[in-house]
Amino acid sequence: MRQDFVSNVSHEIQSPLTSIRGYSQILKEEAITEKERREYLDIIQQEIERLSRLSENLLKLAALESNHPPFHPKPYLLDEQLRRVVVFMEPQWSKKHLELDLSLERVEVVADQDQLNQVWLNLLGNSIKFTPEGGRIGIQLTADDLQVVVQVTDTGVGIPPEAQSRIFERFYTGDPARDRRKSGNGLGLSIAKKIVELHQGEILVASEVGKGTTFTVKLPRRQADKKMDS
Ligand SMILES: Nc1ncnc2c1ncn2[C@@H]1O[C@H](COP(=O)(O)OP(=O)(O)O)[C@@H](O)[C@H]1O
Ligand SMILES: [Mg+2]
Repeated sequence: MRQDFVSNVSHEIQSPLTSIRGYSQILKEEAITEKERREYLDIIQQEIERLSRLSENLLKLAALESNHPPFHPKPYLLDEQLRRVVVFMEPQWSKKHLELDLSLERVEVVADQDQLNQVWLNLLGNSIKFTPEGGRIGIQLTADDLQVVVQVTDTGVGIPPEAQSRIFERFYTGDPARDRRKSGNGLGLSIAKKIVELHQGEILVASEVGKGTTFTVKLPRRQADKKMDS
């Protein structure tokens, strides 16, 4: 496991570096058109972003896996947080002409706000990434006395059954033939799962290839939540 982890990390570092090295060499030595120059610089920038996201995600994962993971639960309104995340991500989903449907009950939770923010960003980010132009994403928030349930649904490419059990593994990104530069590091769902588990909750996936995917996050309601309702 440890060995795998180290080799995955080195691979995730090596491949962008190889690409940055190659393209910067071309920029330095060869006669190229202005269009090519821009294209290569774009690639270099994308690869740098990728490395930067990797290091951010590794830090988050390390913190979550430490003996004392950061966990600062406070009461707040979960529906407001979800709305803010949707607004924050608007540039990405409106660029792809995706429709966003929100159905949010007003729910107060006692949770680590920063951490849960990360969960919604990762789930919504995936839905946007894996849903073709013109598709639909729904976010639903419901609650009863026992639990709070958030569902993120999309009409995207879906996840084959054999992959569904693996997507929460670190570095798992599904189809290895996919454009690596566009895909992520495969850490988003493992981070989301860790955070949900830190809250004693669970995260589930249901998906059909070509139809879409639903991620469900269930968080137990604490005694404190219930008191605040009255
Ligand atoms: N909403 C979704 N629709 C289709 N596939 C998804 C979705 N969310 C996650 N996946 C699959 O699970 C994999 C792991 O997701 P994640 O851990 O967020 O990694 P990343 O986004 O960096 O690829 C993705 O690469 C993709 O194959
Ligand atoms: Mg992701």
